[in-house]
Amino acid sequence: MQDFTFQNRTKIVFGRESEEQTGEEVSKYADKVLFVYGGGSIKEYGIYDKVMESLEGAGVEAVELGGVKPNPRLKLVQEGVEICQEESIDFILAVGGGSVIDTAKAISIGVPYEGDVWDFYAEDKTIEESLPIGTVLTIPAAGSESSPGSVITKEEGGLKRDAGSNKLRPEFAIMNPEFTYTLPDYQTASGAADIMAHVMERYFTHEPNVDFTDRLCEATLRTVIENTPIALEEPKNYGVRAQIMWASTVAHNDLLGTGRVGDWASHPIEHELSGMYDITHGAGLAIIFPAWMEYVHNENIEKFARFAASVWNEEVDFNSLERTAQKGIEDLRKFFRSTGLPTSLGDLDVEIDEADLEEMARKCTDKGPVGNFVELDEEDVLEIYQLAR
Ligand code: NZQ
Ligand code: ZN
Repeated sequence: MQDFTFQNRTKIVFGRESEEQTGEEVSKYADKVLFVYGGGSIKEYGIYDKVMESLEGAGVEAVELGGVKPNPRLKLVQEGVEICQEESIDFILAVGGGSVIDTAKAISIGVPYEGDVWDFYAEDKTIEESLPIGTVLTIPAAGSESSPGSVITKEEGGLKRDAGSNKLRPEFAIMNPEFTYTLPDYQTASGAADIMAHVMERYFTHEPNVDFTDRLCEATLRTVIENTPIALEEPKNYGVRAQIMWASTVAHNDLLGTGRVGDWASHPIEHELSGMYDITHGAGLAIIFPAWMEYVHNENIEKFARFAASVWNEEVDFNSLERTAQKGIEDLRKFFRSTGLPTSLGDLDVEIDEADLEEMARKCTDKGPVGNFVELDEEDVLEIYQLAR
């Protein structure tokens, strides 16, 4: 196990009616906020009114910025930066999912910065300063409510890039599982795939003596695997929604990555897909992750056999760990399919030809190889896209 520093400052306020505490939490930082939200689900399902009521009760003024799209765009971030500068706002409240939270994070680093906020994404510029942000989460998926990352898409060129710093971890996350009852099935399933991907990116490591975190990873995966089909059948099952929601935060708040080096190849490989074709990130991962597994599993067949046995209850075939590993990969694919997700590029509604795959592989590796479990260069990434066809 490697040495590590783990610090996650995000305060989690979890449970029914937790949104009533939004105003109180915000008022510790500011009496005026930029209230960022998405395409309207929070208005349709009453979340907007509840949060507004709590803000008003605490005497907090809200300036609104709605219209964040999934795979959030740079343009709206720049609009938000201008509003904050003009209105002297120094706290941002994100009410929604990863796209809304990532937009809020991007605005939070854009306001104190004199240049173009895209520099942090395109050039990995170090984040020196940011405004504090808070979140009211409405979909368990990206884990952005306590992660140090933000992912933004620049429309010209379909460039989806991330920025990261502990400064981007939100001050608080309000999490009411009841808010997730209204999720469309596709978003519930895509969220589950994203949560699982965040765990698997960390699980597949060559680091020895990390049984403790391996077991935490396996428990998180099993929880999502068991509860997601029930959430799809019974969208208003509180216990099930609550377990998935908490798993989504733990999957990506870095606890599961302690003492080890995660892989993190499947995410950039997927981000090319959702950046260029505007597909849902979790659905993209359901296509890419099994293909990545096919490509790399021989590098540590024991770990893949363990994945099959400990996550999917497969019996280990000691005469052929390869056969056991393949069962685990197939179980993962079957699970994704059973939740209604695509598992190959051919399942998508978009036309992607060989030249597109080549372009994605080139863009994905424009700053060098991706992945730590196995370092993948442009040709490797292209082969993974081809395996995913
Ligand atoms: O826009 P509205 O109308 O709110 O609808 C949203 C959106 O269409 C809808 N939705 C959210 N909560 C709902 C709801 N519909 C009904 N009831 C509710 N309670 O769901 C759709 C998807 O929302 P989005 O915010 O895009 O989902 P998600 O949380 O999956 O975020 C995806 C984004 O996060 C990035 C992804 O790349 C993608 O851009 N990621 C961010 C990470 C981070 N910051 O740490 C890590 C992840 O790996 C990921 O890359
Ligand atoms: Zn993800």
